[in-house]
Amino acid sequence: MKPAAPPKTYRVKSFGCQMNVYDGERMAELLGERGIAPAPEGEEADLVILNTCHIREKAAEKVYSDIGRLVKAGNKAGKAPMIAVAGCVAQAEGEEIMARAPAVSIVVGPQAYHRLPEMLDMAANGERATDTDMPAIAKFDALPVRRKRGPSAFLTVQEGCDKFCTYCVVPYTRGAEISRPFAHLIAEAQKLVETGACEITLLGQNVNAWSGEDDKGRSVGLAGLIHALARIDGLERIRYTTSHPNDMDEALIAAHGDVPKLMPYLHLPVQSGNDRVLKAMNRQHTAEGYLRLLEKFRAVRPDIALSGDFIVGFPGETEAEFEDTLSIVDEVRYAHAFSFKYSPRPGTPAATMDGQIAPEVMDERLQRLQSRIGQHQFGFNQASVGKTCQVLVERKGKLPGQWLGKSPWLQSVWFEGDYAIGDLVDVTLGEAGPNSLMGLVRARLTA
Ligand code: 5AD
Ligand code: SF4
Repeated sequence: MKPAAPPKTYRVKSFGCQMNVYDGERMAELLGERGIAPAPEGEEADLVILNTCHIREKAAEKVYSDIGRLVKAGNKAGKAPMIAVAGCVAQAEGEEIMARAPAVSIVVGPQAYHRLPEMLDMAANGERATDTDMPAIAKFDALPVRRKRGPSAFLTVQEGCDKFCTYCVVPYTRGAEISRPFAHLIAEAQKLVETGACEITLLGQNVNAWSGEDDKGRSVGLAGLIHALARIDGLERIRYTTSHPNDMDEALIAAHGDVPKLMPYLHLPVQSGNDRVLKAMNRQHTAEGYLRLLEKFRAVRPDIALSGDFIVGFPGETEAEFEDTLSIVDEVRYAHAFSFKYSPRPGTPAATMDGQIAPEVMDERLQRLQSRIGQHQFGFNQASVGKTCQVLVERKGKLPGQWLGKSPWLQSVWFEGDYAIGDLVDVTLGEAGPNSLMGLVRARLTA
């Protein structure tokens, strides 16, 4: 590889989950520290970071076609960008990427991106750089302080997964479960609030498996962290995602009743409503156990909005087993949910199981499931009409004077008035649509 001029501008393209969004922001901050600026809209960047996702579908192929597109655009512009591949595809297939894509200068896994500055130096010297080590917590210590501006921020508190669901690649790409230390998280949250955040979403592949020692040396779980975060002045809203049913403890359930800043929303994936399928997925819980758990949340917070993830067409899933998934959706009446066609991931146990389901069967099941989820989401929105709540203003709408924000139940709410991003506006929820509601403004709370 020829030596290249050190990049002056960058673009980070993040795919996949919110943890990748967080990692993308942190990589941008690292580059900012080095005086590398975001490429202006519509201009080619000197450095492009593809922050990839490996969870479903032809992730690696997508990366290669993105690389091809970048090379082509670079040739046309007479200047090829420096290309870095980050994220979970980099972790899983780093060596292959280096072998197959000579245009790639850097391959960096999700636990190693704090080393990007050194890797950029190597690339500028014409050396190709790969780092897919998993040194647990070192990354966070090496990152610069947060600079995020904006009302809603992500904070990664936990990474990795020890659950080994048979369909899932995460335990292989993100490694074993680790929790960031309590004091670091409080400090990062304070910084986020100082720089304009009033809502923080705590992130982790198994966020409710977070554990640590609080400022008094007591062992605490996620509930202890949430109680401490709730004491930060200026932080108005706390959320967390994603959780596993088996890591839910009584303290976290109780926090939903005790901590007003903890929003009435819970994303708790179940994946299937059928116990044979759940067993084959190695979920280690039953449909009934999951429903009993949700009842406990509803008991302390009756208005809680529930959300989940579902997979259709897991190997061997029969029509009757799929119908159990429709039944659990009806029973829970989710306010929101994500659903996916099963995608065999290389190296996972389910990929080689008998009974792989035909694509057209998966398509048909996904459509039925999504339509059922959509009905419940619309129903939840309709049942919200007439409620009064605060909406956090996130962005301007298309029309002058129109704003879009989020209700405590994570619904998108439109309303009109003279506001600014980050305001908390008191509204009564009016007309409901399938994906959003209109808000009638009552009073302006913060400036
Ligand atoms: N195929 C389809 N969906 C998957 N998910 C994880 N692995 C796969 C896979 N191999 C879904 C699960 C998980 C969400 C993040 O992605 O529903 O909760
Ligand atoms: Fe994947 Fe299961 Fe871990 Fe979630 S709990 S990240 S689905 S292995």
